[in-house]
Amino acid sequence: MAGAIVLLAALAVEPASAGSPARPWQDRSLCADARADLLLAEMTLREKLRLVHSDGAWAGAHGKPPAGAIGGAGFIPANPRLGLPAIQETDAGLGIANPKNVRPGDGATALPSQQAIAATWDPRIAEAAGAMIGDEAHRKGYNVLLAGGVNLQREPRNGRNFEYPGEDPLLAGRIVGATVRGIQAQHVLATVKHYALNAQETGRLSLNARIGETALRGSDLLAFELAIEYGHPGAVMCAYNRVNGSFACESATLIERILKGDWKYPGFVMSDWGAIADGAKAIAAGLDQESGEDTHFGAALDQRIAAGGVAPDRIDAMVRRILRSMFAAGLFDVPASVRPIDVAGHLQVSRRVAEAGAVLLRNSNRLLPLSARVSSIAVVGAHSDIGVIGGGGAATVVPWGGRAAIALPAPPPHARWGPVMYYASSPLRAIRAKASAARVDYASGSDIAAAVALAERSEVAVVFVQQWASEGFDLPDLEWSAHQNALVTAVAAANPNTVVVLQNSAPLNLPWLDQVGAVLEVWYPGASGGEAIANLLFGAVDPSGRLPFTWQRNERQLPRPLLPYAGEPQGSAAIPAMQTIDYDIEGADVGYRWFDRNRSAPLFPFGFGLSYTAFDYGAASVSVAEGAVATTVDIVNTGSRPGSEVVQVYVRVPGAKARRLAGFQKVHVPAGGQVRAKVIVEPRLLAEFDALERRWVLAGGEYEFQVGRSAEDLQPAIAVELPPGPVCTDPAPSAAPGCYASPPRDRAVRDHSPAMPL
Ligand code: BGC
Repeated sequence: MAGAIVLLAALAVEPASAGSPARPWQDRSLCADARADLLLAEMTLREKLRLVHSDGAWAGAHGKPPAGAIGGAGFIPANPRLGLPAIQETDAGLGIANPKNVRPGDGATALPSQQAIAATWDPRIAEAAGAMIGDEAHRKGYNVLLAGGVNLQREPRNGRNFEYPGEDPLLAGRIVGATVRGIQAQHVLATVKHYALNAQETGRLSLNARIGETALRGSDLLAFELAIEYGHPGAVMCAYNRVNGSFACESATLIERILKGDWKYPGFVMSDWGAIADGAKAIAAGLDQESGEDTHFGAALDQRIAAGGVAPDRIDAMVRRILRSMFAAGLFDVPASVRPIDVAGHLQVSRRVAEAGAVLLRNSNRLLPLSARVSSIAVVGAHSDIGVIGGGGAATVVPWGGRAAIALPAPPPHARWGPVMYYASSPLRAIRAKASAARVDYASGSDIAAAVALAERSEVAVVFVQQWASEGFDLPDLEWSAHQNALVTAVAAANPNTVVVLQNSAPLNLPWLDQVGAVLEVWYPGASGGEAIANLLFGAVDPSGRLPFTWQRNERQLPRPLLPYAGEPQGSAAIPAMQTIDYDIEGADVGYRWFDRNRSAPLFPFGFGLSYTAFDYGAASVSVAEGAVATTVDIVNTGSRPGSEVVQVYVRVPGAKARRLAGFQKVHVPAGGQVRAKVIVEPRLLAEFDALERRWVLAGGEYEFQVGRSAEDLQPAIAVELPPGPVCTDPAPSAAPGCYASPPRDRAVRDHSPAMPL
């Protein structure tokens, strides 16, 4: 089993030495802070300064990676005098990246997109996904992963939404926190990024995101706050954009006051690549490490120190944070080294994530699951004879063997973010394996008439549609290509048993929805996507994913119906240098909250997803004990097959315009079985952030709790009178009596094995 292999190998690389008199910081019985202090005291100024700037480590920047670098995003050489390991950084939002083929031919396991991981609503699966990429990183010699994208989906056209976990702060924070926990359990330091409000790519290097503090604390920052509490990432990466006038990497409000002050974050802050405009401001704001492409913390910093512009204490504080995170994540004690990787086991992890995150959006007349006895199937479109598509930009993963099933050039003018990668996990082949007695034929879809002819003579038609997205630019609109729309419409007219499989990152308009039998959302499904899709179509697994965002009926329902300059490439002269995006329009009411506040009905609500079985909910109850507010409900599986249900708890705070997700739990219920779900709600969702007092407070009054299957499919409200009071974010209520207590954190992986049953 993959987990056991991981554990054995981790023990095998454990160095024998525990501290020595010469290097007391090697003493593992000391805490990370003490070890960091001991090492810091030993360092010269030059050695310290080497730690606050990483070099770019891809071939493109320098012709070849710097000496000693494996090749990736960033690199800091080792310091043999002190036993400091080299810092080897790679992107890894969805697997270990290989930018510009800097490691020729080196592949890795691609996970499904972060949207798929969020759609599992299952922190255990997110943690297993993190453990998988952490293990792969460690065995390739990397010790810092630029993973953990946790920006909220405020803009459905955002090109990077496939790297992000949807629109809700609680779901996003718990899922990304779990991923980070999984990564760091492998002795690899992880980031959360991009702090904050990098919610679109159009104009990302200059745009100014405007929002009031209470709204920001209750939305995007809450996602970061929770991800940090649940995952303890060693680093936070600040974003390219401005927030309320200051560049995020130069914002003392974001870094010093909120992150390091209010949240007491002990790790370090690194810049995004090229995100610093003014080095002095960045240092004053609390930035600790400059990344890759910038040159503000190199020779320029030396000069500033010599001129007395930066105090030695400030450099010490930066270095102490970096060292502390390195010790805490185990970079000294269990160094990364090149060792064999359990590729087959990792592909299984990727498959399980894809299966658990797929969302069944429509299933008329129970068309799905397909019977293995079906006589003939037409498989159509999206290169599904060969593989499944992935997203572009820094998060692109090169498949194992270094060769994609297909690698198409990115459409101009976005060539630099390509190629458009297809993983060699063929849905056609996997469908054939499931229906061995059936005649299964393929039509590429480029010739619509040929696809229609095939669909006409088949019992079932499965049409694949796809939409590619990438870092660096946004989608110009929310439409599939006209050709794909025409293809689906024509096939559906030819065959009433048409299933559409969506591979996408955005809630694209579905003009043919009522004409097709079933729709299965599989996101970018990762390196085992084909097998996962076949398992879902034939019911080997129940689709238990639920939407991590709201699917609008049309763009007029959105806070910003238009995205100016959408589709323009990074650096386009058409985009104004100082573009302000007014997030105060929706404030903290992102996504389903915006729809609720406007009494606007979406096409598919947040949290929605069908199952092959059926669940009945008993009457829910709400209890308050020792500061913990909990909702309890019995779930009965009334169908004849096992399935998983996501119990969602929404709360309407007195006076609030919109309800909020305050807790959730995914439960597995055997056929005919009953399970009791007890969900302790996160009290920050019952509270407002008081920007003057700088704390979360419940105003008190009548709170309406609703339990249900999505943001729209809810049981009648239960009104509960709650007294006013502060929130204590420490999960142990006894630590601070008289406050509302956060739920216990999700389980931490201690044994380095994936927590997920495979
Ligand atoms: C992206 C980051 C990434 C970095 C290094 C930037 O363009 O915004 O997410 O980690 O590049 O590759």
